[in-house]
Amino acid sequence: MTQNIDLKCFPYSYEELERLAAENTSPEAFDYVQSGSSTEQTLRTNVQAFSSYAFKPRVCTGTKAVDSKIEIFGKEYPFPIFFAPVGNQKVVHPEGELASARAAKRLNVPYIASTVSSHTIEEIAEASGNGDRWFQLYATKDQDVTNSLISRAEKNGYTAIVLTVDMAPSWRVKDMRNQFLPFSRGQKPYPSIVSDPVFQEKYGESVLENGLEKTVRSIFPNPEFSWDQLKELKKITSLPIIVKGILDEDDAHLALEFGADGIVVSNHGGRMIDGCIPAIEALPNIAEVVKKRVPVFLDSGIRSAKDVVIALALGADAVFLGRPFIYGLAIAGEEGVHKVFSNQFEEFRRMMILCGTNNIDNIKNLKIIKIS
Ligand SMILES: Cc1cc2nc3c(=O)[nH]c(=O)nc-3n(C[C@H](O)[C@H](O)[C@H](O)COP(=O)(O)O)c2cc1C
Repeated sequence: MTQNIDLKCFPYSYEELERLAAENTSPEAFDYVQSGSSTEQTLRTNVQAFSSYAFKPRVCTGTKAVDSKIEIFGKEYPFPIFFAPVGNQKVVHPEGELASARAAKRLNVPYIASTVSSHTIEEIAEASGNGDRWFQLYATKDQDVTNSLISRAEKNGYTAIVLTVDMAPSWRVKDMRNQFLPFSRGQKPYPSIVSDPVFQEKYGESVLENGLEKTVRSIFPNPEFSWDQLKELKKITSLPIIVKGILDEDDAHLALEFGADGIVVSNHGGRMIDGCIPAIEALPNIAEVVKKRVPVFLDSGIRSAKDVVIALALGADAVFLGRPFIYGLAIAGEEGVHKVFSNQFEEFRRMMILCGTNNIDNIKNLKIIKIS
């Protein structure tokens, strides 16, 4: 399905990106990426909510060279715009996560590999080479398997764990209508879990008796995960653990109490809970609780540079892009992913100049108001 498009004609707006991605994927794969759960209220309001904020740019600040760099866990990154963890990327492009990880390396931002990537932890590490990489963990119901996933991430040079806590089977109307499962189209299900030595040792027999998918589903997803288990994870790894999927400031408080080294304010891009608060609306209270003790990230609804500015001015240290880069992958593989991020970076850089801001602290200090 993927065409070789002339990168000079690559879309500059989210709407065009989405339209071209739809032309370059099967309708079912496009629905899988684009859609949200149930009535898609969360999917819509994530984006709409950004339009209810506006910032006051500064003028005559003598802005010369803008410095867009940020530092997270002691490492410098060129822009506060990172990859969201996204699984099953082969549904839109045969090179899947390998292409995205290569693009992340060229862009000098961390690649966050999902537990449910269509390539293994090791394969993605190889593609990412000496690039920075973090591992997104879905804690399974079997602590031994979870520990083994973490230890493979450590061995393969991942430098942080992004623990996603808002995942459970949701009501995905379009996927159910299309009878679409990412691995219903010839892909291997859950390669990182299935290739795991501890999983193979403990569940090999069950796989033979009950089949692979049923066996994996007996331990994953794990809606039973609780804060105590975060404490346990902290004991088995020295990597920073960033908790992804926080919307309530009380949960932000608990996450810190139980040892979180970072927080991602997110509602999974509207793919899990329908009708919940848009992520950007949740951010100010959470930033207030965190009080700069750990990095705060935000995803769900970032579509252009003004969204990044709004998120930073409301207390985020960096944002994650989800669907936009998957559309880039669908359109032109690694180059498409690279192009989506380079465009976001350049628009953000121009926005910094327009706002009279020399650096990220200036952006964070812009005054912001609610306009609706
Ligand atoms: C196709 C798809 C697959 C995703 N897979 C994962 C995943 O494996 N792990 C995870 O933590 N989040 C996953 N997410 C959620 C993203 O990390 C992120 O929260 C979301 O895409 C942000 O919203 P946006 O797409 O509006 O930018 C996925 C999102 C999409 C669109």
